[in-house]
Amino acid sequence: MTDLFADIRDDQPACEELAEGAVLLRNFFAAEQPDVIAALRTIVKAAPFRHLVTPGGHTMSVAMTNCGRVGWVSDSSGYRYDPVDPDSGKPWPEMPAPFRDLAARAAVQAGFDAFMPDACLINRYKPGAKLSLHQDKDELDLRAPIVSVSLGLPATFLFGGLTRSAPQKRYRLTHGDVVVWGGPARLAYHGVAPLPDGEHPVMGGQRINLTFRKTQ
Ligand code: SIN
Ligand code: FE2
Repeated sequence: MTDLFADIRDDQPACEELAEGAVLLRNFFAAEQPDVIAALRTIVKAAPFRHLVTPGGHTMSVAMTNCGRVGWVSDSSGYRYDPVDPDSGKPWPEMPAPFRDLAARAAVQAGFDAFMPDACLINRYKPGAKLSLHQDKDELDLRAPIVSVSLGLPATFLFGGLTRSAPQKRYRLTHGDVVVWGGPARLAYHGVAPLPDGEHPVMGGQRINLTFRKTQ
């Protein structure tokens, strides 16, 4: 009898290890996607995307906003987690349940139990926007992982080692993919290559990334 699945190649496993402590969960949240996107729209209305300026005076190509108890901000005085949105003078929008649940579920799938993020940085990439290689190290609690959720246009994610010069691997992240890194990979250098042009059926001409953190 012919094997119907003989020519399906398994080169995109559902759970791929990027490094010890880091996994890529492909197409992780199809079912709750409408709830996540609806919650995202509400947040962005209350705290619109803005282009932050780095301490060195460079305006970032990625536009950012936040939800949760604190939000990540950058200005001429440095990087910090702030309970107040500097643009509105008000607290950041609360972290909605579909965000919280998705982050906790992804963390468990990656082997990290009881992940309770208190911040979610929301990055918006339009074509050409990129994020240079960096470590997420402004959090006081480095035992908790980082959970990173991709929506919209595909991007090339660079994932390296614990030094800036360690070799990086490149991964294509598409709508619905989640990357989790923690433990020995918690301070791994990572970044995003310039976003190619495109139009996504749900999200339009952009990529949105949600990164969940436990800051303290
Ligand atoms: C980040 O490092 O904060 C974002 C990574 C991404 O956009 O995939
Ligand atoms: Fe990061």
